[in-house]
Amino acid sequence: MEKIKRVAVLTSGGDAPGMNAAIRAVVRSGISHGLKVYGVIRGFEGLIGNEIKQILSTDVSNIIQTGGTILKTARSEEFMTAAGRLKAYENLKSRGIEGLIVIGGDGSFAGANQFAKEHNFPVVGIPGTIDNDLYGTDYTIGYDTALNTVVDAVDKIRDTASSHNRIFFVEVMGREAGFIALRSGIASGAEAILIPEVEGQLKKLMKTLAGRGEIKKSSIIIVAEGEREANIWEMAELVRKEIPGSDVRVSILGHIQRGGRPTAYDRVSASRMGIAAVEALISHQYNVMTGLVNNKISLVPLSKTIKMHKEVNRDLLASVNQLI
Ligand code: F6P
Repeated sequence: MEKIKRVAVLTSGGDAPGMNAAIRAVVRSGISHGLKVYGVIRGFEGLIGNEIKQILSTDVSNIIQTGGTILKTARSEEFMTAAGRLKAYENLKSRGIEGLIVIGGDGSFAGANQFAKEHNFPVVGIPGTIDNDLYGTDYTIGYDTALNTVVDAVDKIRDTASSHNRIFFVEVMGREAGFIALRSGIASGAEAILIPEVEGQLKKLMKTLAGRGEIKKSSIIIVAEGEREANIWEMAELVRKEIPGSDVRVSILGHIQRGGRPTAYDRVSASRMGIAAVEALISHQYNVMTGLVNNKISLVPLSKTIKMHKEVNRDLLASVNQLI
């Protein structure tokens, strides 16, 4: 098989802290293997719009410590069409680019996998999303930083909650999954954690709050954005109505969870995955994602990571009851 000479890298979907560390690793590892590395601006949108430029080693200096993505990102409607993917293919071909590295989440990988099959084009995915909801990897880039951001925010909320004897409902990100809520809830000593993976939690929460009476006057309840039983405002209203004398507040942490300096863990994982993605392309291992399983890099077929559902850690979930 011929040696691959040119690869491109892009970031897609929601940004995540550590994406820059992954870009840097792809560029530096690619160059050290003798490749020309191209960066695509604004994800698949830029691939279709031909916003592609060569990146040099110095272009990725001083970015490992920054959040966001220097390549910008987008969610592309056009890439969902065959005509959009054809334009993308032609733009890569016209530059002699023979492999594409996509840093993103499951939506991005679904598009990438479709593109790879349609055009027989080598693609490697790097899991980058704060949600950590990708099958085939224990951690996604940005998850650890987001967890630390949440814990920092909740520590501050706890000061005011306890000063006023208030019950705080705090919403954290995770459109479909409770990974952020579960781990940040444990780390911040939350009195309850509500996630979409578990049913009947609201009833249990009401019972707990009602049964506590004067024992504990302030509480932090972490709610995942994807929680289905009720939205956070409805929950707060229910507690106001059913727990006499309760003083309830809602705090939605929102996009602060997506920004900020990546933690050391995210920087190192992103660097390892960036190198692994380049090496996968060089060794002709295509249409895979660079997962981290038991702290080892493992290549998982993209088709599998898209199809399979990642479960929350049931042991961790079970431990919550003993910590409250
Ligand atoms: O996919 C990551 C995520 O942070 C979700 O948890 C959240 O629902 C979503 O992105 C928000 O996306 P946007 O910034 O496009 O509103």
